[in-house]
Amino acid sequence: MKKIITLVFMMACAAPAVALAAGPAKPLDRANIDMTDTASLQRGAEYFFQYCIGCHSIQYKRYNRMGNDLGLSEDQLRERFIHTRDAAGDQTGVGELIKIAMKPDDAESWFGQPAPDLSLTARLRGPDWIYTVLRSFYLDDSRPMGVNNAIFEAMSMPHVLWELQGWQANVGEEGHIKLEKVAEGKLTTEEYNEVVRDITNFLTYAADPVKVERHELGKWVLLFLAFFTFVAYLLKKEYWRDVH
Ligand code: HEC
Repeated sequence: MKKIITLVFMMACAAPAVALAAGPAKPLDRANIDMTDTASLQRGAEYFFQYCIGCHSIQYKRYNRMGNDLGLSEDQLRERFIHTRDAAGDQTGVGELIKIAMKPDDAESWFGQPAPDLSLTARLRGPDWIYTVLRSFYLDDSRPMGVNNAIFEAMSMPHVLWELQGWQANVGEEGHIKLEKVAEGKLTTEEYNEVVRDITNFLTYAADPVKVERHELGKWVLLFLAFFTFVAYLLKKEYWRDVH
């Protein structure tokens, strides 16, 4: 029995260490997203469908659900968001799941990895992870595509936003990573951070679309509990009146 207790205790102590060991080498930056900011979610969706959908699906979501949540009409969805076609060659319908045209096998042979579905990444890794990864690409000749990532080492994703961000290089000494801008992009660093924040916001919404609703509901539940406590108190007073 004692042995088992010791074992359980040791495992409990080791768990955080394992989690830490798997963590990134560089601390994550705060994404500071706001899921109630619909304009930011709409911009994030637009960037996502422009820059990411070529490789990443969010296949647990449907276009029209996204439209409802983000205040986009079906026409807007068709014009600005749906870039894929079905087997007959028609534009994918608004009631369909958000998939990609590329086959997973192709992705694997092009990038050495299939691009993962991003439906749940924000929940699995957290928004700060997505935010920091997208800002941490740097030039590295030793990698097949000439790009590495300070947070996701040896990442096989190309830096698809390089036109916006420009390029960074690693100027850190001996194993330490320190990124410095070496080529300007179309955006300033602040503007680029905003773009990445919007994308992160959108992916966080996609991972948990009812979160905002749930928080709204939470307020009413608390209000109800307060009211109920008050009623219970009045009842208690009533019952005990004759006893005292
Ligand atoms: C050309 C294909 C391609 C495009 C376009 C692309 N990605 Fe990726 N992405 C990949 C691949 C491949 C991986 C897997 C990397 C690995 O495991 O080494 C990946 C991985 C990721 C991850 C890490 C997932 C995890 O489990 O931690 C995130 C986050 C991500 N991509 C976000 C994006 C976003 C946001 C965009 C659009 C701005 C984008 N990607 C565009 C190919 C792509």
